[in-house]
Amino acid sequence: MNPLDFTTEELDRLFDLAVDIEANPAKYSKKCEGKKLATCFYEPSTRTRLSFESAMLNLGGSVIGFSDAGSSSASKGESVSDTIRIISCYADICAMRHPKEGAPMVAASRSKIPVINAGDGGHQHPTQTLTDLLTIRSLKGRLGGFTIGLCGDLKFGRTVHSLINALSRYDDITFIMISPEELKVPDYIRDMLTEKGIAFKEVISLEDVMPELDLLYMTRVQRERFFNEEDYIRLKDFYILNKQKMALAKDDMLVLHPLPRVNEISVEVDDDPRAAYFKQVQYGVYVRMALILTLLELV
Ligand code: NCD
Repeated sequence: MNPLDFTTEELDRLFDLAVDIEANPAKYSKKCEGKKLATCFYEPSTRTRLSFESAMLNLGGSVIGFSDAGSSSASKGESVSDTIRIISCYADICAMRHPKEGAPMVAASRSKIPVINAGDGGHQHPTQTLTDLLTIRSLKGRLGGFTIGLCGDLKFGRTVHSLINALSRYDDITFIMISPEELKVPDYIRDMLTEKGIAFKEVISLEDVMPELDLLYMTRVQRERFFNEEDYIRLKDFYILNKQKMALAKDDMLVLHPLPRVNEISVEVDDDPRAAYFKQVQYGVYVRMALILTLLELV
């Protein structure tokens, strides 16, 4: 499952459902009774796994799974294809995170049950994107007609790759990609934007573009994907969003972050009404509830 597997109309229906879940949680609390979600996480995660698990529990379903490759048969050499065939006998739906790019896709192609990509290596993170889109739609009232700054590790940050892909289908969006030279977006993203004729620019200075932004999407430098620690140390604190920088921004600009944050947003920004990253976490649960219901055809 990828946001691009859904048309924008289907995404709208998904988001409408998430909004209804937010307003009427009791209506949905038994919808998944008797259903099981398997969370197969071959890579560490706190919020994505727990977000999926609480989504299923809120729907009255149950959860099985593992939270690191070491505690699964992958450590014995089992392939993802075999694992998913087994999981299909135990569960009705699976959320899979894997360090290898494309692994959840391979699993989906071999599976009898829906497999949701919960993040594959430095590639994509579709359900974080659903979370981001629902947050933007709920707090800005629209998807489209804005300038978004994406800042930090745009090379390895899979959330950014999925988000740019998804937003490229909406009207009148300008992308400002803010990163050090070494952490620029991969070529395939730049090529896609160029091909579609979408406005974008790549800059190094966050301060310079701050006044232009309607949305600022901050990201963590992805330490685990670096080849050497020295580069990580040199780049990790390249951007730190603080009060001074926030003073340059529009009054209604929103700051998003997929979390976990390290140093890239100073804690003093948390109290700024424009900081939306903790609200984003809550939207993540609603949108995953909506996704589970949709994929299990329970709506
Ligand atoms: C992101 C991820 O796993 O890619 N986190 C998340 O799922 N909320 C971002 C990150 O790890 O920096």
